[in-house]
Amino acid sequence: MNKHISYKLSQLFVEDVAVSEITESLRTPFYVYSRTTIKDNFHRFKRSIEGFDGLICYSVKANSNLSVLETIAKLGGGADVVSLGEYKRALRAGVDPKKVVFSGVGKQDFEIAETLKSSLLQFNIESISELELINKVASGLNKQAPIAFRVNPDIDAGTHENISTGKADNKFGIPIINAKEIYEYASKLNGIKIVGVDVHIGSQISNLNAFRQTFENLVNLINDLKKLNIDLENIDIGGGLGIKYTDDDIEPDLQEYGTLVRQILGNLNCRIIFEPGRFIVGNSGILVTKVLYKKKSQNKNFLITDAGMNDFSRTALYGAAHRLIPLSKEKSGEAEFFDVVGPVCETTDTFLKNYLVEKAEEGDFLAFLDVGAYGAVLSSEYNTRPLVPEIMVYEKRYEMVRARPTYEEIFDKEVMPNWE
Ligand code: LLP
Repeated sequence: MNKHISYKLSQLFVEDVAVSEITESLRTPFYVYSRTTIKDNFHRFKRSIEGFDGLICYSVKANSNLSVLETIAKLGGGADVVSLGEYKRALRAGVDPKKVVFSGVGKQDFEIAETLKSSLLQFNIESISELELINKVASGLNKQAPIAFRVNPDIDAGTHENISTGKADNKFGIPIINAKEIYEYASKLNGIKIVGVDVHIGSQISNLNAFRQTFENLVNLINDLKKLNIDLENIDIGGGLGIKYTDDDIEPDLQEYGTLVRQILGNLNCRIIFEPGRFIVGNSGILVTKVLYKKKSQNKNFLITDAGMNDFSRTALYGAAHRLIPLSKEKSGEAEFFDVVGPVCETTDTFLKNYLVEKAEEGDFLAFLDVGAYGAVLSSEYNTRPLVPEIMVYEKRYEMVRARPTYEEIFDKEVMPNWE
């Protein structure tokens, strides 16, 4: 919970809106975001990196709803995108294309061409083949593509293995030990303008030591490149700051992170680019769901919710734990232990195991907390369950920022070929 998502007189509020007011007119499940929380997080991050030239390029993949991007664009934030779709979203929401970095291991020629034509801050290149393709596309357009190499420092970020990206075994980046020669090669290509270096070692990182080691490796590389007359303008240090989902999680100290960056990278005369995702939006969102059934099996109690793994998949994908709380604390009743599960026909459609749920009856509404990052963006229509709607709250107002599609809209995208 944060101060904008809290109980007032036993009712759960997001800012000044009682969530129960929304359930009166909109069928659950749905996401609700607090715009003020997003703004606060952005400001907090910005304050921690004061004193040097820093640019926050919000990692769009964490939550790409246009209303989220618009909020960040209005605060002067840029964007870290990984597809032409995300690039277009960012621009539509008002992000300055000169503040967009294009990351990802699988950029395609049409994506490179379109972003290059319309402009961007830099491509974060992940392989020699990609470098060569970008060079070819840029040369064909008579342009020079601004590029940074994403280096893989072979550092263990100490996070869940599915979200670790900076180990030599991961598919990401070029090995830092080969970086010098690759930069040298790139410096000879006509369609390429080297502007920076990039690194991203993983997500939900709680230990700042991994960042420290990474930054130190970057400094060595930058100094080596200087000797080759390759001067960089930008150091992109990716995202990855963890947040506190449960009492067991350790939240890294933001000030310490800022100090670390300032101390190690702050005097190199470069702009530092940050790509936070989870930190900006993670605690801004809840997923509101209804208890469909309570079911007793031989040795377990199940609580079956109308939200499923198609609406929220972090638990199924990473074994993540998200707290679950009632919308109303008014009811009297016993707290009971449940396995909280969704309606999808998969055993991994399990949100919580042996979890003490306060006073839950069939028909009651509950909310999963801290689902603003990697929540709605990872949803699907598996089991032909329509994509989950999203609501943005700002002080007293709220608005549906993505509607639930009708079944007809879903089916209209498909065809039955008229074959005998
Ligand atoms: N930059 C790059 C290149 C990334 O790949 C990512 C996240 C970020 C920035 C933002 O990282 P953040 O600040 O949010 O940690 N779905 C997973 C997380 C996947 C992260 C993918 N990359 C989850 O729900 O935990």
